[in-house]
Amino acid sequence: MHFDILTLFPGLFAGVFEESILKRAREAGLVTIALHNIRDYASGRHRITDDLPYGGGGGMIMKPEPIFAAVEAILGDQLGRVPVILLTPRGRTFTQQIARELSRQRRLVLICGRYEGVDERVHQYLATDEVSIGDYVLSGGEIPAMVLVDAITRLIPGVLGEPTAPFEDSYAEGLLEYPHYTRPPVFRGHAVPEVLLSGNHAEIVRWRRQQALRLTWERRPDLLERARLTDADRAYLRQLEDERKS
Ligand code: ADE
Repeated sequence: MHFDILTLFPGLFAGVFEESILKRAREAGLVTIALHNIRDYASGRHRITDDLPYGGGGGMIMKPEPIFAAVEAILGDQLGRVPVILLTPRGRTFTQQIARELSRQRRLVLICGRYEGVDERVHQYLATDEVSIGDYVLSGGEIPAMVLVDAITRLIPGVLGEPTAPFEDSYAEGLLEYPHYTRPPVFRGHAVPEVLLSGNHAEIVRWRRQQALRLTWERRPDLLERARLTDADRAYLRQLEDERKS
């Protein structure tokens, strides 16, 4: 996967891309990331990238010319064949499903907006997709771009060492994760659940599944509607409902 990131602040990305999983994915050649400074594509002595909004009002708007020029120069004859994603609060809300969809691409362009907004012509005639990372407003699209790169990179084959067990991969998909424990067995009086020390693998699998179901039922019942559930799962959820009623 190759990411082209267009930003006015390339320096913001250094730490995130140079540690841990992203660093290893890049070193292994599984991911390449090119940071492009939009200012380099602005014309004039002052290389201005923003201007006042037509119609008045506060704030500055990012001009269309440098952003169009950057994308056209970067993509060349690949223009039109590579998704151009604008990070914006008005985009479709990013989910694991969208991460999966985007991870199948060979190349992605991410445009980070700044200030009060980006000229509407970028939204309409340059971006092929608009993504938001949630219903809140950040100072710019840089952190959202980092979120996309991280979530997508983890899904590229070979990036995470061990592929997760098929059980966790598909079956548990759509639920919150079960709780994890490591040593010591008792920490400040709080013991690790007995079943995890039992060595009974089938019991452990069952306990984890039920914990995932319980957590999801308590905190994100909306996720249960789309999760893949077995008859045993449904029976356990009915039991939780009955407990709540009594
Ligand atoms: N730019 C500012 N806020 C944003 C958000 N929540 N998602 C994507 N881009 C943004």
